[in-house]
Amino acid sequence: MSSVGGIDVYVMTMRPATAEILPGIQTRVLTFNGSFPGPLIKARRGRPVVIHQRNRLDVPTSVHLHGGEVDPQHDGQPMATIAPGEDRTYYYPNAQPHASLWYHDHAHHLESENVYRGLSGQYLLTDEVEEALPLPSGEYDLPIAIRDANVDDTGLHYTMSDRNRSTMIANGKAYPYVEVAARKYRIRFLNCSNQRFMELGLEDGGEMIQIGSDGGLLPGPHPTTSIPLSAAERADVVIDFSRYPVGSSVVLRNSGGFGNPELVGQVLRFDIVRTAEDDSSVPSVLRELPPLPQPTAERTVTLRMDEDGRPDPQAYIDEKLYDPDRVDQQIRFGASEVWTVKNLNQIAWHNFHMHLVQFRVLERDGRPPGPAEAGLKDTVNLRPNETIKVQATFDTHRGSYVYHCHMLDHSAMGMMATMRIS
Ligand code: C2O
Ligand code: CU
Repeated sequence: MSSVGGIDVYVMTMRPATAEILPGIQTRVLTFNGSFPGPLIKARRGRPVVIHQRNRLDVPTSVHLHGGEVDPQHDGQPMATIAPGEDRTYYYPNAQPHASLWYHDHAHHLESENVYRGLSGQYLLTDEVEEALPLPSGEYDLPIAIRDANVDDTGLHYTMSDRNRSTMIANGKAYPYVEVAARKYRIRFLNCSNQRFMELGLEDGGEMIQIGSDGGLLPGPHPTTSIPLSAAERADVVIDFSRYPVGSSVVLRNSGGFGNPELVGQVLRFDIVRTAEDDSSVPSVLRELPPLPQPTAERTVTLRMDEDGRPDPQAYIDEKLYDPDRVDQQIRFGASEVWTVKNLNQIAWHNFHMHLVQFRVLERDGRPPGPAEAGLKDTVNLRPNETIKVQATFDTHRGSYVYHCHMLDHSAMGMMATMRIS
Protein backbone atom coordinates (compact mmCIF):
# COMPACT_ATOMS: atom_id res chain seq x y z
CA MET A 1 0.00 0.00 0.00
CA SER A 2 1.11 3.51 -0.70
CA SER A 3 -0.55 6.77 0.28
CA VAL A 4 -0.93 9.56 -2.20
CA GLY A 5 -2.69 12.82 -1.36
CA GLY A 6 -4.83 11.31 1.40
CA ILE A 7 -5.74 8.21 -0.63
CA ASP A 8 -4.53 4.71 0.17
CA VAL A 9 -3.52 2.96 -3.04
CA TYR A 10 -3.24 -0.81 -3.36
CA VAL A 11 -2.21 -3.01 -6.25
CA MET A 12 -3.67 -6.48 -6.21
CA THR A 13 -2.97 -9.27 -8.60
CA MET A 14 -5.54 -12.01 -8.92
CA ARG A 15 -3.54 -15.11 -9.67
CA PRO A 16 -3.47 -18.83 -8.95
CA ALA A 17 -1.25 -19.94 -6.08
CA THR A 18 -1.04 -22.77 -3.60
CA ALA A 19 -2.16 -22.61 0.00
CA GLU A 20 -1.68 -25.01 2.89
CA ILE A 21 -5.35 -25.52 3.77
CA LEU A 22 -4.80 -29.01 5.15
CA PRO A 23 -1.66 -29.50 7.23
CA GLY A 24 1.30 -30.43 5.01
CA ILE A 25 -0.68 -30.38 1.74
CA GLN A 26 -0.43 -27.68 -0.92
CA THR A 27 -3.74 -26.93 -2.60
CA ARG A 28 -4.20 -24.88 -5.73
CA VAL A 29 -6.45 -21.87 -5.11
CA LEU A 30 -7.26 -18.48 -6.61
CA THR A 31 -5.81 -15.55 -4.72
CA PHE A 32 -5.37 -11.85 -4.42
CA ASN A 33 -1.60 -11.27 -4.23
CA GLY A 34 -0.95 -14.95 -3.49
CA SER A 35 -2.90 -14.77 -0.26
CA PHE A 36 -5.79 -17.14 0.64
CA PRO A 37 -8.08 -15.54 1.70
CA GLY A 38 -7.15 -12.17 0.21
CA PRO A 39 -5.18 -9.57 2.19
CA LEU A 40 -6.93 -7.74 5.02
CA ILE A 41 -7.58 -4.11 4.13
CA LYS A 42 -7.97 -1.53 6.87
CA ALA A 43 -9.64 1.69 5.88
CA ARG A 44 -10.71 4.81 7.71
CA ARG A 45 -13.77 6.94 7.09
CA GLY A 46 -12.94 10.05 5.06
CA ARG A 47 -9.84 8.46 3.57
CA PRO A 48 -10.55 6.93 0.15
CA VAL A 49 -9.02 3.66 -1.00
CA VAL A 50 -8.04 2.94 -4.59
CA ILE A 51 -7.36 -0.65 -5.63
CA HIS A 52 -5.76 -1.47 -8.96
CA GLN A 53 -6.93 -5.00 -9.65
CA ARG A 54 -4.90 -7.01 -12.14
CA ASN A 55 -6.61 -10.13 -13.42
CA ARG A 56 -3.95 -12.77 -14.13
CA LEU A 57 -6.38 -15.68 -13.98
CA ASP A 58 -7.84 -17.51 -16.95
CA VAL A 59 -11.41 -16.46 -16.06
CA PRO A 60 -13.09 -13.03 -15.98
CA THR A 61 -13.57 -11.46 -12.57
CA SER A 62 -15.37 -8.49 -11.07
CA VAL A 63 -14.41 -7.29 -7.61
CA HIS A 64 -17.31 -6.18 -5.41
CA LEU A 65 -16.89 -4.38 -2.09
CA HIS A 66 -19.70 -6.00 -0.14
CA GLY A 67 -21.53 -3.47 2.05
CA GLY A 68 -19.70 -0.54 0.49
CA GLU A 69 -21.35 2.68 -0.62
CA VAL A 70 -19.63 3.21 -3.95
CA ASP A 71 -20.44 4.50 -7.43
CA PRO A 72 -21.94 1.91 -9.80
CA GLN A 73 -18.84 1.74 -12.01
CA HIS A 74 -16.76 0.82 -8.94
CA ASP A 75 -19.27 -1.61 -7.47
CA GLY A 76 -17.94 -4.75 -9.12
CA GLN A 77 -21.18 -5.53 -10.91
CA PRO A 78 -21.85 -8.89 -12.55
CA MET A 79 -21.34 -7.67 -16.13
CA ALA A 80 -18.51 -5.19 -15.42
CA THR A 81 -15.88 -7.87 -15.64
CA ILE A 82 -12.12 -7.67 -15.92
CA ALA A 83 -11.03 -9.96 -18.74
CA PRO A 84 -8.05 -12.26 -18.18
CA GLY A 85 -4.86 -10.23 -18.59
CA GLU A 86 -6.66 -6.91 -18.05
CA ASP A 87 -6.72 -4.46 -15.15
CA ARG A 88 -9.38 -2.31 -13.54
CA THR A 89 -9.18 0.38 -10.91
CA TYR A 90 -11.77 0.59 -8.15
CA TYR A 91 -12.36 3.73 -6.12
CA TYR A 92 -13.86 3.41 -2.64
CA PRO A 93 -14.76 6.78 -1.08
CA ASN A 94 -15.15 5.41 2.47
CA ALA A 95 -17.65 8.17 3.17
CA GLN A 96 -19.97 5.84 5.07
CA PRO A 97 -19.80 5.06 8.82
CA HIS A 98 -17.54 2.27 10.13
CA ALA A 99 -18.48 -1.24 8.97
CA SER A 100 -17.08 -4.73 8.58
CA LEU A 101 -16.94 -4.98 4.81
CA TRP A 102 -15.43 -7.61 2.59
CA TYR A 103 -14.53 -7.92 -1.05
CA HIS A 104 -15.19 -10.81 -3.36
CA ASP A 105 -15.61 -11.78 -6.98
CA HIS A 106 -18.97 -11.05 -8.60
CA ALA A 107 -18.47 -11.99 -12.28
CA HIS A 108 -21.74 -13.15 -13.83
CA HIS A 109 -22.18 -16.93 -13.49
CA LEU A 110 -18.60 -17.34 -12.30
CA GLU A 111 -18.78 -15.73 -8.84
CA SER A 112 -19.81 -18.89 -7.06
CA GLU A 113 -16.82 -20.90 -8.26
CA ASN A 114 -14.39 -17.96 -8.11
CA VAL A 115 -15.29 -17.18 -4.51
CA TYR A 116 -15.20 -20.86 -3.61
CA ARG A 117 -11.69 -21.11 -5.03
CA GLY A 118 -10.51 -18.20 -2.93
CA LEU A 119 -11.43 -14.77 -4.27
CA SER A 120 -12.53 -13.00 -1.11
CA GLY A 121 -10.99 -10.94 1.68
CA GLN A 122 -11.95 -8.73 4.62
CA TYR A 123 -12.05 -4.91 4.53
CA LEU A 124 -12.51 -3.20 7.89
CA LEU A 125 -13.63 0.40 7.74
CA THR A 126 -13.28 2.36 10.97
CA ASP A 127 -14.30 5.85 12.06
CA GLU A 128 -14.09 8.22 15.04
CA VAL A 129 -17.25 6.79 16.67
CA GLU A 130 -15.73 3.35 16.84
CA GLU A 131 -12.23 4.53 17.70
CA ALA A 132 -13.52 6.48 20.72
CA LEU A 133 -14.68 3.27 22.41
CA PRO A 134 -12.46 1.28 24.81
CA LEU A 135 -12.95 -1.99 22.88
CA PRO A 136 -10.08 -4.46 22.47
CA SER A 137 -7.87 -3.24 19.63
CA GLY A 138 -4.56 -3.78 17.87
CA GLU A 139 -3.32 -7.34 18.30
CA TYR A 140 -6.48 -8.06 20.33
CA ASP A 141 -8.73 -7.41 17.34
CA LEU A 142 -8.85 -10.55 15.17
CA PRO A 143 -10.56 -10.78 11.76
CA ILE A 144 -11.62 -14.39 11.15
CA ALA A 145 -13.16 -15.44 7.85
CA ILE A 146 -14.91 -18.79 8.08
CA ARG A 147 -16.20 -21.02 5.32
CA ASP A 148 -16.59 -24.62 4.35
CA ALA A 149 -14.49 -26.27 1.69
CA ASN A 150 -14.46 -29.68 0.10
CA VAL A 151 -10.71 -30.21 0.12
CA ASP A 152 -8.48 -33.26 0.15
CA ASP A 153 -5.00 -34.17 -1.04
CA THR A 154 -6.18 -33.99 -4.66
CA GLY A 155 -7.38 -30.40 -4.41
CA LEU A 156 -10.23 -28.05 -3.59
CA HIS A 157 -13.37 -29.43 -5.18
CA TYR A 158 -16.01 -26.96 -6.18
CA THR A 159 -19.33 -28.71 -5.89
CA MET A 160 -22.71 -27.12 -5.55
CA SER A 161 -24.50 -29.93 -3.82
CA ASP A 162 -22.04 -32.33 -2.20
CA ARG A 163 -21.47 -30.82 1.17
CA ASN A 164 -20.89 -34.10 2.97
CA ARG A 165 -17.17 -33.97 2.55
CA SER A 166 -16.85 -30.31 3.41
CA THR A 167 -14.69 -29.24 6.26
CA MET A 168 -14.63 -25.86 7.98
CA ILE A 169 -11.71 -23.56 7.34
CA ALA A 170 -10.87 -20.34 9.16
CA ASN A 171 -8.59 -17.77 7.53
CA GLY A 172 -7.73 -20.39 4.93
CA LYS A 173 -6.79 -23.27 7.28
CA ALA A 174 -8.55 -26.42 8.33
CA TYR A 175 -8.40 -27.41 12.02
CA PRO A 176 -6.67 -24.15 12.94
CA TYR A 177 -5.81 -22.86 16.36
CA VAL A 178 -5.01 -19.39 17.49
CA GLU A 179 -2.93 -18.52 20.53
CA VAL A 180 -4.60 -15.95 22.70
CA ALA A 181 -3.88 -14.22 25.99
CA ALA A 182 -6.21 -14.59 28.97
CA ARG A 183 -8.02 -11.31 28.34
CA LYS A 184 -10.73 -9.83 26.11
CA TYR A 185 -10.50 -10.05 22.33
CA ARG A 186 -12.60 -8.52 19.64
CA ILE A 187 -13.25 -11.02 16.84
CA ARG A 188 -14.68 -10.07 13.45
CA PHE A 189 -16.37 -13.13 12.08
CA LEU A 190 -17.23 -13.26 8.41
CA ASN A 191 -19.11 -16.17 6.89
CA CYS A 192 -17.50 -16.29 3.44
CA SER A 193 -19.07 -19.62 2.48
CA ASN A 194 -20.97 -19.92 -0.74
CA GLN A 195 -24.03 -21.40 0.93
CA ARG A 196 -23.56 -22.57 4.48
CA PHE A 197 -25.67 -21.24 7.32
CA MET A 198 -23.55 -21.31 10.46
CA GLU A 199 -24.42 -21.33 14.10
CA LEU A 200 -21.28 -20.48 16.05
CA GLY A 201 -20.74 -21.15 19.72
CA LEU A 202 -18.00 -22.00 22.20
CA GLU A 203 -17.96 -25.70 23.08
CA ASP A 204 -18.27 -24.98 26.80
CA GLY A 205 -21.33 -22.81 26.21
CA GLY A 206 -19.26 -19.78 27.20
CA GLU A 207 -20.60 -16.31 26.67
CA MET A 208 -19.73 -14.18 23.69
CA ILE A 209 -20.77 -10.55 23.56
CA GLN A 210 -21.93 -9.58 20.12
CA ILE A 211 -21.13 -5.91 19.59
CA GLY A 212 -21.54 -5.53 15.84
CA SER A 213 -22.97 -6.91 12.63
CA ASP A 214 -22.61 -6.13 8.91
CA GLY A 215 -22.83 -2.36 9.12
CA GLY A 216 -20.77 -1.81 12.25
CA LEU A 217 -21.58 -1.65 15.93
CA LEU A 218 -24.95 -2.59 17.40
CA PRO A 219 -26.70 0.05 19.52
CA GLY A 220 -25.72 -1.97 22.60
CA PRO A 221 -23.90 -5.21 23.46
CA HIS A 222 -25.76 -8.50 23.11
CA PRO A 223 -24.47 -11.33 25.32
CA THR A 224 -25.13 -14.69 23.70
CA THR A 225 -23.89 -18.25 23.43
CA SER A 226 -24.87 -18.76 19.80
CA ILE A 227 -24.35 -16.70 16.70
CA PRO A 228 -26.27 -17.52 13.54
CA LEU A 229 -24.45 -16.35 10.44
CA SER A 230 -25.64 -16.89 6.89
CA ALA A 231 -23.32 -16.61 3.92
CA ALA A 232 -21.85 -13.08 3.70
CA GLU A 233 -23.06 -11.95 7.14
CA ARG A 234 -20.62 -10.61 9.71
CA ALA A 235 -20.65 -10.72 13.50
CA ASP A 236 -18.36 -8.63 15.65
CA VAL A 237 -17.90 -10.34 18.99
CA VAL A 238 -15.97 -9.83 22.23
CA ILE A 239 -14.80 -12.98 24.01
CA ASP A 240 -13.18 -12.72 27.42
CA PHE A 241 -10.58 -15.48 27.63
CA SER A 242 -9.59 -14.45 31.17
CA ARG A 243 -12.15 -16.95 32.47
CA TYR A 244 -10.00 -19.82 31.13
CA PRO A 245 -6.80 -20.94 32.85
CA VAL A 246 -3.55 -20.38 30.99
CA GLY A 247 -2.65 -23.66 29.31
CA SER A 248 -6.25 -24.57 28.47
CA SER A 249 -8.12 -24.43 25.18
CA VAL A 250 -11.64 -23.74 24.04
CA VAL A 251 -13.06 -24.75 20.68
CA LEU A 252 -15.34 -22.61 18.55
CA ARG A 253 -17.95 -24.90 17.09
CA ASN A 254 -20.44 -24.70 14.27
CA SER A 255 -23.76 -26.46 14.48
CA GLY A 256 -25.31 -24.98 11.35
CA GLY A 257 -25.78 -26.36 7.85
CA PHE A 258 -25.43 -29.85 6.46
CA GLY A 259 -22.47 -32.14 6.62
CA ASN A 260 -20.49 -34.47 8.77
CA PRO A 261 -20.28 -32.98 12.30
CA GLU A 262 -16.75 -34.39 12.59
CA LEU A 263 -15.71 -32.13 9.73
CA VAL A 264 -17.99 -29.12 9.93
CA GLY A 265 -18.48 -29.03 13.69
CA GLN A 266 -15.09 -27.69 14.67
CA VAL A 267 -14.18 -24.23 13.40
CA LEU A 268 -11.09 -23.34 15.37
CA ARG A 269 -9.42 -23.76 18.72
CA PHE A 270 -8.37 -20.94 20.97
CA ASP A 271 -5.30 -21.85 23.03
CA ILE A 272 -4.94 -19.63 26.07
CA VAL A 273 -1.16 -19.33 26.36
CA ARG A 274 -0.37 -16.35 28.57
CA THR A 275 -1.76 -13.63 30.75
CA ALA A 276 -1.94 -10.03 29.58
CA GLU A 277 -3.02 -6.64 30.84
CA ASP A 278 -6.48 -5.65 29.79
CA ASP A 279 -7.82 -2.14 30.03
CA SER A 280 -10.45 -2.72 27.36
CA SER A 281 -14.14 -2.85 28.15
CA VAL A 282 -17.49 -3.12 26.40
CA PRO A 283 -19.56 0.00 27.05
CA SER A 284 -23.29 -0.43 27.58
CA VAL A 285 -24.01 1.99 24.75
CA LEU A 286 -22.01 1.36 21.59
CA ARG A 287 -23.53 3.68 19.07
CA GLU A 288 -26.53 5.77 18.32
CA LEU A 289 -28.27 4.87 15.10
CA PRO A 290 -29.87 7.66 13.12
CA PRO A 291 -33.67 7.70 13.51
CA LEU A 292 -35.56 5.92 10.74
CA PRO A 293 -37.13 8.41 8.34
CA GLN A 294 -40.80 8.11 7.40
CA PRO A 295 -40.82 5.59 4.50
CA THR A 296 -41.76 7.01 1.11
CA ALA A 297 -42.43 3.73 -0.71
CA GLU A 298 -43.15 0.07 -0.04
CA ARG A 299 -42.28 -2.91 -2.18
CA THR A 300 -42.60 -6.66 -1.94
CA VAL A 301 -39.98 -9.06 -3.25
CA THR A 302 -40.28 -12.84 -3.38
CA LEU A 303 -37.50 -15.41 -3.45
CA ARG A 304 -38.12 -18.90 -4.73
CA MET A 305 -36.07 -21.69 -6.17
CA ASP A 306 -37.15 -24.93 -7.79
CA GLU A 307 -37.18 -27.59 -5.13
CA ASP A 308 -39.09 -30.31 -6.93
CA GLY A 309 -35.97 -32.33 -7.65
CA ARG A 310 -35.65 -31.37 -11.32
CA PRO A 311 -32.10 -31.81 -12.67
CA ASP A 312 -31.40 -28.14 -13.42
CA PRO A 313 -33.14 -26.13 -10.74
CA GLN A 314 -33.41 -22.41 -11.25
CA ALA A 315 -33.87 -19.65 -8.72
CA TYR A 316 -36.03 -16.55 -9.05
CA ILE A 317 -36.76 -13.13 -7.63
CA ASP A 318 -40.41 -12.22 -8.22
CA GLU A 319 -40.59 -15.37 -10.37
CA LYS A 320 -38.03 -13.98 -12.81
CA LEU A 321 -34.50 -15.10 -13.56
CA TYR A 322 -31.76 -12.48 -13.42
CA ASP A 323 -31.44 -10.50 -16.62
CA PRO A 324 -28.67 -7.92 -16.53
CA ASP A 325 -30.48 -5.82 -19.15
CA ARG A 326 -33.70 -5.50 -17.16
CA VAL A 327 -34.37 -2.95 -14.42
CA ASP A 328 -36.63 -4.53 -11.82
CA GLN A 329 -37.13 -1.66 -9.38
CA GLN A 330 -37.02 2.08 -10.06
CA ILE A 331 -36.13 4.02 -6.94
CA ARG A 332 -36.20 7.74 -6.45
CA PHE A 333 -32.91 9.17 -5.17
CA GLY A 334 -33.36 10.16 -1.54
CA ALA A 335 -36.24 7.73 -0.93
CA SER A 336 -36.48 5.66 2.22
CA GLU A 337 -38.28 2.43 1.39
CA VAL A 338 -39.70 -0.54 3.21
CA TRP A 339 -39.09 -3.80 1.40
CA THR A 340 -41.01 -6.89 2.40
CA VAL A 341 -39.01 -9.93 1.36
CA LYS A 342 -40.60 -13.38 1.33
CA ASN A 343 -39.00 -16.77 1.07
CA LEU A 344 -41.63 -18.83 -0.74
CA ASN A 345 -39.74 -22.10 -0.38
CA GLN A 346 -40.87 -24.86 1.96
CA ILE A 347 -37.42 -26.38 2.44
CA ALA A 348 -34.77 -24.07 1.05
CA TRP A 349 -33.20 -21.31 3.08
CA HIS A 350 -32.15 -18.08 1.44
CA ASN A 351 -30.74 -14.77 2.44
CA PHE A 352 -31.20 -11.32 1.02
CA HIS A 353 -28.46 -8.84 0.19
CA MET A 354 -28.76 -5.37 -1.30
CA HIS A 355 -25.81 -3.59 -2.78
CA LEU A 356 -25.17 0.08 -1.93
CA VAL A 357 -27.17 0.33 1.29
CA GLN A 358 -26.97 -0.62 4.92
CA PHE A 359 -30.59 -1.24 5.89
CA ARG A 360 -32.47 -1.78 9.11
CA VAL A 361 -34.43 -4.94 9.84
CA LEU A 362 -37.92 -3.89 10.95
CA GLU A 363 -39.66 -7.23 11.29
CA ARG A 364 -39.11 -10.93 11.04
CA ASP A 365 -42.40 -12.77 10.48
CA GLY A 366 -44.26 -9.85 12.02
CA ARG A 367 -42.10 -9.66 15.12
CA PRO A 368 -39.39 -7.16 15.90
CA PRO A 369 -35.89 -8.48 15.12
CA GLY A 370 -33.68 -9.80 17.90
CA PRO A 371 -30.80 -7.74 19.36
CA ALA A 372 -28.26 -9.20 16.91
CA GLU A 373 -30.24 -7.63 14.05
CA ALA A 374 -30.83 -4.27 15.69
CA GLY A 375 -27.94 -2.56 13.90
CA LEU A 376 -27.21 -1.81 10.27
CA LYS A 377 -27.36 -4.81 7.96
CA ASP A 378 -26.75 -5.53 4.31
CA THR A 379 -27.58 -9.25 4.38
CA VAL A 380 -30.33 -11.04 6.30
CA ASN A 381 -31.24 -14.69 6.46
CA LEU A 382 -34.64 -16.05 5.50
CA ARG A 383 -35.75 -19.42 6.76
CA PRO A 384 -38.28 -21.41 4.69
CA ASN A 385 -41.60 -19.53 4.47
CA GLU A 386 -40.23 -16.59 6.38
CA THR A 387 -40.99 -12.94 5.63
CA ILE A 388 -38.84 -10.01 6.66
CA LYS A 389 -39.30 -6.28 6.38
CA VAL A 390 -36.30 -4.03 5.96
CA GLN A 391 -35.99 -0.28 5.50
CA ALA A 392 -33.31 1.23 3.29
CA THR A 393 -32.57 4.84 2.40
CA PHE A 394 -31.15 5.52 -1.05
CA ASP A 395 -29.44 8.86 -0.60
CA THR A 396 -25.79 8.25 -1.41
CA HIS A 397 -25.30 7.21 -5.05
CA ARG A 398 -27.36 7.02 -8.23
CA GLY A 399 -27.34 4.27 -10.80
CA SER A 400 -28.03 0.56 -11.13
CA TYR A 401 -27.15 -1.98 -8.47
CA VAL A 402 -28.12 -5.58 -7.86
CA TYR A 403 -29.86 -7.29 -4.98
CA HIS A 404 -29.78 -11.03 -4.60
CA CYS A 405 -29.64 -14.13 -2.49
CA HIS A 406 -26.09 -14.42 -1.18
CA MET A 407 -26.05 -18.18 -1.33
CA LEU A 408 -23.90 -17.71 -4.39
CA ASP A 409 -25.11 -20.82 -6.11
CA HIS A 410 -28.63 -19.41 -5.92
CA SER A 411 -27.68 -16.03 -7.37
CA ALA A 412 -25.80 -17.86 -10.13
CA MET A 413 -29.01 -19.86 -10.74
CA GLY A 414 -30.90 -16.61 -11.32
CA MET A 415 -31.87 -15.26 -7.90
CA MET A 416 -30.67 -11.74 -8.54
CA ALA A 417 -32.31 -8.54 -9.82
CA THR A 418 -31.53 -4.89 -10.54
CA MET A 419 -32.65 -1.69 -8.85
CA ARG A 420 -32.02 1.71 -10.41
CA ILE A 421 -31.74 4.76 -8.22
CA SER A 422 -32.32 8.00 -10.11
CU1 C2O B 1 -21.43 -9.94 -1.44
CU2 C2O B 1 -23.67 -8.90 -4.65
O1 C2O B 1 -22.52 -9.44 -3.03
CU1 CU C 1 -30.98 -18.50 -1.93
